[in-house]
Amino acid sequence: MLRRYFIVSQENLTGKPLADANWLASHHQAKLPERIAFAKRMANLKPKSIVDLGCASGLWLEVFNQFLPTECEFIGIDCDEELLNMAVKRSNLWQRKVSFLQMDLENEFSRIPPCDLTLAFNIFPYIQDLNSFVNALSHRIPRGTLAVRQYDGASIRFGPMPTSKRQEIETELRVAIESSKRFYHYDIDRTFKVLRHSSYQQCNYEFELFNRSSPFPIDFLPYYKETLLWTCQFLSEKSVDYFRTWIDNDPLMLNRYFYEVDLVALLS
Ligand SMILES: C[S@@+](CC[C@H](N)C(=O)[O-])C[C@H]1O[C@@H](n2cnc3c(N)ncnc32)[C@H](O)[C@@H]1O
Repeated sequence: MLRRYFIVSQENLTGKPLADANWLASHHQAKLPERIAFAKRMANLKPKSIVDLGCASGLWLEVFNQFLPTECEFIGIDCDEELLNMAVKRSNLWQRKVSFLQMDLENEFSRIPPCDLTLAFNIFPYIQDLNSFVNALSHRIPRGTLAVRQYDGASIRFGPMPTSKRQEIETELRVAIESSKRFYHYDIDRTFKVLRHSSYQQCNYEFELFNRSSPFPIDFLPYYKETLLWTCQFLSEKSVDYFRTWIDNDPLMLNRYFYEVDLVALLS
């Protein structure tokens, strides 16, 4: 079975898909310029406290640490002990008040502290009852600004590739992921609807493009390759064969592009 060679779980110790520490680090490195730009933008809001929901190993907070004044307190929340330990270690030298809480956001949302700026970056796919979750966030006093960044499996594109082949691959991936019912890999629409019906009054929605074309920057390559391999494990043998040939046909990746689009919403 060809597919066996492609098993890459990218789960963390609590079994959350696409949340393994190394995978998150590759992802972060690939998108660092965009993440820095976003953190600088958020710094203009001058928050005195930031809560990061699903902070994992603290990579985003590390970026915020560079641009926020030291008076701003950081609180990171995650359910995964191993990732939180990494976050604690990462934050050791930060000159500010920092704490990390281990909790299951889905079942303990009354414990989420109020703050000036709440970060919800790619955490919604793990929350079943998103309505209640956003409702609870909006009822904290003060609720401050909620910053949402949400990817969607349907807006990730490898190219160039014949459309018929891409659609076959995308359909196989979607059917496999949706039938596993483990997380919402296709979550922009659900997120958009829930935010639109929430009690936040000021809402700003944008769609942010992340794109790279070859020759790919060195910092982007691990994320790109891991995303290809992760995709392969959900495909039929025929599609894996095609995908492998597609990869092998341009081993130096000289004529490739990649893009994805994230929903970026700011609510207050
Ligand atoms: C895809 S990672 C996102 C990490 C980071 N926010 C980012 O954008 O790079 C999702 C994180 O949410 C955490 N997580 C998922 N479900 C959770 C839950 N119910 N309670 C607390 N944390 C959860 C996972 O452990 C993981 O660290």
